[in-house]
This record gives sequence, structure tokens and C-alpha cells, in this order.
Amino acid sequence: MEAVFEGWTSTVGKPTMDSDVRMSTRNVDVHYGDKQAIYGVDLDIGKNEVLAMIGPSGCGKSTFLRTLNRMNDTIDICRITGDIILDGDNIYDKHMDVVNLRARVGMVFQKPNPFPKSIYDNVAYGPKIHGLVTRRAELDEVVETALRKASIWDEVKDRLDQPATGLSGGQQQRLCIARTIAVSPEVILMDEPCSALDPIATARIEELIAELSENYTIAIVTHSMQQAARVSHRTAYFHLGRLIEVGKTDKIFTAPEHKLTEDYITGRFG
Ligand SMILES: Nc1ncnc2c1ncn2[C@@H]1O[C@H](COP(=O)(O)OP(=O)(O)O)[C@@H](O)[C@H]1O
Ligand SMILES: [Mg+2]
Repeated sequence: MEAVFEGWTSTVGKPTMDSDVRMSTRNVDVHYGDKQAIYGVDLDIGKNEVLAMIGPSGCGKSTFLRTLNRMNDTIDICRITGDIILDGDNIYDKHMDVVNLRARVGMVFQKPNPFPKSIYDNVAYGPKIHGLVTRRAELDEVVETALRKASIWDEVKDRLDQPATGLSGGQQQRLCIARTIAVSPEVILMDEPCSALDPIATARIEELIAELSENYTIAIVTHSMQQAARVSHRTAYFHLGRLIEVGKTDKIFTAPEHKLTEDYITGRFG
């Protein structure tokens, strides 16, 4: 173990919650081959909570986020142990339907990744394959509702049949959020969702995150401490695969308990 972790025992602050828990991880380790990337993470994420995950590049934020909807399953050498519970279900249970899980725990990526299809079809795809609607009128309604919730409806309502790839980056990212919402997820994971966007598009996504948190649980990885401070209720600080500290966002940024957290937020490394 690295010298910096001599004497390190467990996460400081408040990683677990007494009530209103949406997702829980317990003793989660992740290995890539014989290299360990995540060490024994215990963390709860609350209903209607925005949880920000921050930490230096390579500390395991994306790896940990991807364990929450089994996105790491696609990486052959990746091995995950421990428990991850979503509303009472262990998501690594052998009976878990992974396609259904990824509808319940949707994901928005760093670079907007709309399908090379129309705006309408991007949003309609999920409800169709999951059999959530039977009639065209119902599908139209689901598409409109998702686009409205992602605050992009007014910009696209007159060109739903046009290719999604013709939208600006910020519009594409909101479309990807609409696509995620269209299948009624319980949790939305976002991995640096604004890092490819300009400041105005970023501000729109941040406003949207605040609106969405009324109905969804959101876990967002960000390299921007300002963004974490603006959008999240709780913040989790990772360092070299360990979850060092978790707490209310204003506390993490004003009165962190752990020296590593303090060093990071005051810009001593990153
Ligand atoms: N697909 C992969 N194969 C092997 N190692 C990986 C893979 N993805 C990430 N890692 C390693 O896991 C560690 C954590 O990476 P990552 O989760 O991407 O960190 P972050 O998102 O915080 O920058 C790093 O050491 C990285 O090199
Ligand atoms: Mg990452």
C-alpha cells in the first residue's frame, strides 16, 4: 500500500445514510487484471440526491461510477467484488437482467453520443425496445415528455425527424439526457457530462441537473470543483482508489476533515 495510506482505515465523514437510500455499495473492490483500482468502498446514494464524485485524474471515479450499472462488464479483465444494491436488488445477482438494469440506472457520457438516427428515434428507441409503449400516440407522448424534462423540446419540436448529429454539442448532450429519461430510470449516472461543452451549454446542463434531482437520483463525476459545488448535495472525494471522505457539499468545500481532501480542494494537487 502506498505510504500515503499508512494508517488509513476507512472513509471519514458520512458515506452511509439512515433513510431514503436509493443505491448502496458495500466493500466494493475493483481490479483490472492484477491491478486494483477501487478499495473497499462503502457508500449510499439517497433518493432525490445529487452526489458529486471528485478526485485527481486516475483515482477511480469512472471505474466506480461504471460499477453502478455494470458498465464494467464489457471490460474483460475487470473484476468486481462486494455488494451493490439498487432499491433492495443486488445488481450483480446472476438473475439480474443487465439490459433492464441499464434502463433503471441510465448513463450519460463525457462526449455526447446520439445514435445516427433522427432526434425522435433517439428518444423513442429505449421505450420501444423495453416494450414500454404499444401505440404510436403513446410513443409520441413519451418522446415529448422526455424532451421537455431535458429542457430541449422547444429547440427541436419542429425538426424531430432531422438527424440528431445536426444538433450542437450542448443540445446533443440534453438529447442524450432525454434518451436516458425516456425509459424512466431510478438513477442517472453522469461521467463528466460537460467536459466537451462551452460555458453556456454547461450552465444549461447544470440547471437541468437541479431540476432532474426532484425526480431522480443523480451521481455525477466532475473534474470541476465549482461544478460539484454548484450542482451537488453531497460530495465524495476519491484518492488512489480509496473513498477518502464524503459529506454535505458545502462542508467538504469549506471544512473538509481529511488532509487529502483539503489538499485537493485547496489546489495542492489535482
Ligand atoms: N479499461 C481499463 N483497463 C485497465 N486499467 C484501467 C481501465 N480503465 C481504467 N483503468 C485504470 O484504473 C484506474 C482508475 O481509472 P479511472 O476510473 O478511469 O479514473 P478517473 O475516472 O478517476 O480518472 C487508473 O489507474 C486507470 O489506469
Ligand atoms: Mg474518468
